[in-house]
Amino acid sequence: MILKPMVRNNVCINAHPGGCAVETGRQIEVIRAKRPAYDRLDGPKAVLVVGCSTGYGLASRIATAFGFGAATLGVSYERGPSEASTGTPGWYNNRNFDAEALAAGLVSRTFDGDAYSRAMKEKVIAAARELGLRFDLVVYSLASPARTDPETGTVYRSVIKPIGGVYRGKTVDPFSSVLSHAEVQGASEDEIAQTVKVMGGEDWALWLEALNAAGVLAPEPTTVAYSYVGPELSWPIYRDGTIGRAKSHLEATARRITGSGAAKAYVSINKALVTRASAVIPVIPLYVSILYKVMKERGIHEDCIDQIDRLFRDRLYSGSAPALDAEGRIRVDELEMGAAVQAEVASRMARVDSSDLAELADVEGFRLDFLRAHGFAVEGIDYEADVSPYGEA
Ligand SMILES: NC(=O)c1ccc[n+]([C@@H]2O[C@H](COP(=O)([O-])OP(=O)(O)OC[C@H]3O[C@@H](n4cnc5c(N)ncnc54)[C@H](O)[C@@H]3O)[C@@H](O)[C@H]2O)c1
Repeated sequence: MILKPMVRNNVCINAHPGGCAVETGRQIEVIRAKRPAYDRLDGPKAVLVVGCSTGYGLASRIATAFGFGAATLGVSYERGPSEASTGTPGWYNNRNFDAEALAAGLVSRTFDGDAYSRAMKEKVIAAARELGLRFDLVVYSLASPARTDPETGTVYRSVIKPIGGVYRGKTVDPFSSVLSHAEVQGASEDEIAQTVKVMGGEDWALWLEALNAAGVLAPEPTTVAYSYVGPELSWPIYRDGTIGRAKSHLEATARRITGSGAAKAYVSINKALVTRASAVIPVIPLYVSILYKVMKERGIHEDCIDQIDRLFRDRLYSGSAPALDAEGRIRVDELEMGAAVQAEVASRMARVDSSDLAELADVEGFRLDFLRAHGFAVEGIDYEADVSPYGEA
């Protein structure tokens, strides 16, 4: 079939196998080029990445495997291809990762299924035992719209809404470049509670408990989960909204995991980047487009793999304890949050209109990153060529 991006309501519903392979390979090459710097550090040897197939989780798996040479087990929820339709990008990314890892002589196992379930935790524990692995690092990088509680079977759904009032803000449609005013109704108490159930730290703690009880953690292991803070202008919809509540719960969970003695737990605050869900969050496409433009103008733009490379080499495994902010979190978002960058972004956010959008914001950069996350707009791929949805192994 000829594969062109199929974007419906700002969600891309297909993927290009060849483009995904090139993108995964590019990230691996970024890390391979830094291998000498990794070799000087005492990094993790056995790593579990929960949410391993795309975004920050995939970058974490690549950095620990191809940088430190660690054995990696990955868990993600992806859909494979059929005769009629392509798989999800993460399905191709996982396959590409496993093939590259095998070729490099690295141990890797990937599990597709629900990370929130007890069955998945048992599968990972069984594989760790079979391979003789004890995890010294567990990366928790889930982003999910829903969670089935393993005890009760109740399905919880996360929402991105403000708390205590309506949110109104400027936003842009990255596909039409049309600016508009978004309005999002405030969340109910039930929606807040459900979002915390899905995106808070409960499942992270359950993973650590299960791994610890099964004896598949190394002595003094580390675990890290990812979060975002962002600028004040996004707080009503993000940090002070439903997702922010879930992230506060995640941060409190880090303290609980550390307190339990199961692992030293960190939350790392990462930069805003374009991932599969970015285009549907109000204000984020406009903020990220302006941020990209400002950071690219200053030569300080980073993508997932750059962020995670710095997190592992300069923070978690630098040889000394990572610097923490006043809330006890690791920060790799300091370039995004720098005062000069934020002042410029805020000024552009306030004054941007359709006449100067292209000058003030990198909407095209946003759109291209979004397409690349699905294997489209990748250099070197012939998008007119007939491809099988199964791609090449
Ligand atoms: N994207 C950003 O701008 C940004 C910035 C800072 C922090 N973060 C945080 O980083 C983390 C990862 O986000 P991302 O943007 O890389 O997301 P992503 O959508 O690219 O990746 C999410 C991963 O979770 C997996 N997943 C989802 N539901 C699952 C389930 N039920 N079982 C197993 N796997 C499941 C997916 O398969 C995928 O591997 C999130 O906690 C997010 O809040 C993201």
